[in-house]
Amino acid sequence: MEIKTICVVGAGLMGHQIALQAAISGFETFCTDTSEVALNKAQDFASNWIGGRLEKGKITSIEADAIKQRLTFTTNLDTAACNADLVIEAIVEIVGIKRDLFARLDKICPPHAILATNSSYLVSSKIADATSRPDKVLNMHFFNPALVMKLVEVVQGPHVSDETVEKAMEVCRALGKVPTRVNKEIYGFVANRVFAAIMTESLYMLDQGVASVEDIDNAIKFGLGHPMGPFALLDLVGIDLEYDVRMGRYQDTGMAEDKPSPALVERYAAGNFGRKSGKGFFDYKK
Ligand code: 3HC
Repeated sequence: MEIKTICVVGAGLMGHQIALQAAISGFETFCTDTSEVALNKAQDFASNWIGGRLEKGKITSIEADAIKQRLTFTTNLDTAACNADLVIEAIVEIVGIKRDLFARLDKICPPHAILATNSSYLVSSKIADATSRPDKVLNMHFFNPALVMKLVEVVQGPHVSDETVEKAMEVCRALGKVPTRVNKEIYGFVANRVFAAIMTESLYMLDQGVASVEDIDNAIKFGLGHPMGPFALLDLVGIDLEYDVRMGRYQDTGMAEDKPSPALVERYAAGNFGRKSGKGFFDYKK
């Protein structure tokens, strides 16, 4: 079955750009969220992005209109998912809420539809048995900002069929992405495990007064050739998200090294979540 229609559930940090990318890449796309505010924000972002591309001469007005026509925003999950060949879920990282959503999607979507979660750390085997099609439920993990970052981790849990993985990889390529096949469900998958090691070390050095936020970021940027330092990146992905991930991990393992570091806790407690709140490790209000 060819994938023509994609439904993205969740119009937040990741979902709004995944949906726009799908529409740009020629898929009939539905973007749905329970929050009208989030959907309006996503729609404004898409309009501005399309307008910007048009202004820069990167797309023609015919292409701009076609992208807009392919992209529908709706709060109605049934409308968004009833014809989907692929659903990409990008909602809050709470397993119970995801399970409820997947059980609903299972009833709404056509039987052939693949149901993917964009979760960065909740593996699909914690969700798949809420549906009648566990072989078609997997992780497709995009990176932020999803319009720019090429990587998508496609994760094959023990319940996922080869056919589903191959289809998901094919869609990623059609989206202009580079899919990485992850053969086992492992906490953090591939890229975030490496990123976590860099971040843990950077936070440790900051807490120990070894170097400042700016100097650690510059060392990683100019010494290792990363496009951004770890603290600028934490501000981009969200300190609240990082705190929740670390706290969840710490509650699971009870290991001291998984505990959120003081530099992270301090910013989290102050509501300094990064770019989204105007301040994190860096100040964006200036
Ligand atoms: N959203 C969409 N597009 C963006 C963007 C954003 N937030 N920020 C920048 N862009 C686009 C710009 O429009 C521009 O596109 P164009 O060249 O086609 O016009 C292009 O990216 C370059 O933008 P800029 O020149 O303004 O800025 P930079 O060259 O500094 O690039 C960056 C910004 C793309 C964010 C770059 O710094 C980068 O790649 N940083 C690393 C990001 C990263 O590592 N992400 C992974 C995070 S971990 C994760 O997502 C896992 C999850 O589980 C938490």
